[in-house]
Amino acid sequence: MTRHINAIVAVCDDWGIGQGGGLLVRNKADMRTFVEHTMGGTVVMGRRTLESLPGERPLKGRRNVVLTRDEDFSPEGIEVCHGVREVLELTAADDAVWIIGGESVYRSFLPHCEHVYVTRNQCTLPADAFFPDLDRLPGWQLVSTSDGGTTEDGTPYSFATYEHVV
Ligand SMILES: NC(=O)c1ccc[n+]([C@@H]2O[C@H](COP(=O)([O-])OP(=O)(O)OC[C@H]3O[C@@H](n4cnc5c(N)ncnc54)[C@H](OP(=O)(O)O)[C@@H]3O)[C@@H](O)[C@H]2O)c1
Repeated sequence: MTRHINAIVAVCDDWGIGQGGGLLVRNKADMRTFVEHTMGGTVVMGRRTLESLPGERPLKGRRNVVLTRDEDFSPEGIEVCHGVREVLELTAADDAVWIIGGESVYRSFLPHCEHVYVTRNQCTLPADAFFPDLDRLPGWQLVSTSDGGTTEDGTPYSFATYEHVV
């Protein structure tokens, strides 16, 4: 089995992804796309992103791997890792590994990702967490885009896929 490591993220126009521990935009289509991509696979996230999930519970139907430096952290249904190398070793036999955030985890795993699946919410909101701007980052190329629609709050959005080319 060949492992594929990809990231999936929802960004605003300035690549903002979060504020105060939460997401910036409520976008149901983005959530559906997230589930379609990740279901049955492995999701890798930081401890803060786990704490942002409903009930701080692992995502159903997926292998949940969480990064923390806390040696005593051991929530139910979660496999805990303490570094990038440990995650790569733990998931070596997995088919689909999804890097699902937040900022620190995206930045650490981007060099290992083949593709990044981006939902682009066409707005700018105050943010304290950002994804690297893939339009400016060497080694990344936009390979597809598709129209999304408009969220219930009136924010237009689209989908984009970037490929790691080096
Ligand atoms: N828009 C999106 O698609 C999206 C997706 C996910 C998250 N987000 C947003 O992103 C924000 C959170 O991002 P964040 O960067 O603050 O937090 P994060 O990446 O979710 O979690 C950070 C924590 O993960 C652990 N960690 C990270 N790298 C590690 C490493 N190499 N080794 C060991 N532990 C490591 C540390 O936990 P300890 O402190 O326990 O040691 C660190 O404090 C939130 O606002 C969230 O809503 C947005």
